[in-house]
Amino acid sequence: MFNIILFGPPGSGKGTQSEQLVAKYNLKHLSTGDLLRGEIAAATPLGIEAKKLMDAGQLVPDEVVVGMISSALDANPQVSGFLFDGFPRTTAQAESLDKLLKLKGGEIGIVLALEVKEEELIKRLLNRGLSSGRSDDTNEEVIKNRIVEYNNKTAAVAKHYAAQNKVQQIPGEGSVEEIFGLLSKAIDAEISA
Ligand code: AP5
Ligand code: MG
Repeated sequence: MFNIILFGPPGSGKGTQSEQLVAKYNLKHLSTGDLLRGEIAAATPLGIEAKKLMDAGQLVPDEVVVGMISSALDANPQVSGFLFDGFPRTTAQAESLDKLLKLKGGEIGIVLALEVKEEELIKRLLNRGLSSGRSDDTNEEVIKNRIVEYNNKTAAVAKHYAAQNKVQQIPGEGSVEEIFGLLSKAIDAEISA
C-alpha cells in the first residue's frame, strides 16, 4: 500500500491534481472537503453542523473528520493506496491518521506540499466562486479566514511529517500539466527508492 498526502493551502490545486494522480497511480481519493460537502448535500445532522463552520472558513472539529476518514479506510480494504486531499489539517489529525494506518499495516509514503503565493490563492478561489456554487469561495473575507486557519493550524502538519523525512515541496504555480509532471516525478522517485 502506498499512501500519499497532497498538502497545501486552500486553492493550491489539491483537488485538480488529485483527479489525475488517482487515475495514474490507481489510488482511492479521500477528500474531507468533498465528504463534508456530500453530507451538506444530503442534509445530514453532521452536514448541517459542518456547513456553519465551512461557510465561516473555519475548520470542523478533528473528531468529525477523523471519524469520516476512519470509516472510509474501513470501507476500502482492497485498494492499493489512498490519496489524502485536505486531510490531515491539524497535528492531532495527523497523529490519528498515522495510528489508523498503522492498525492496517500501512503508513504515509510521501507528503507532497504544493506552494502557491497568497495573492494567487485568493485570485483562483474568487474566480472559482463565480461558478462553483461553493459558498466559501464567494467572499474574500471567508477566503482569507481559510488561509488564516491554514497558517495557524494546518502548516504544522508539514512539520509533523518533515520530522519523519516525508515532505517534498512542489511549486504549485504554472500549468496544471507542469505541476502534474513534478508531482509524478516525486512519486516515481519515492516508489522506486
Ligand atoms: P476543502 O474542500 O479541502 O477546501 P480547501 O482546502 O479550502 O481548498 P480547495 O478545495 O478550495 O482548493 P484545492 O487546493 O483543492 O484547489 P483546487 O484544485 O480546487 O475544505 C473546505 C472546508 O471544509 C474547510 O474550510 C473546512 O471548513 C472543512 N474541512 C475540510 N477538510 C477538513 C479537515 N481535514 N479538518 C477540518 N475541516 C475540514 O483549485 C482551486 C482553483 O484553482 C480551481 O478553480 C482550479 O481550477 C484552479 N487551479 C488549479 N490548479 C491551477 C493552476 N495550476 N493554475 C491556475 N489555476 C489553477
Ligand atoms: Mg479541494
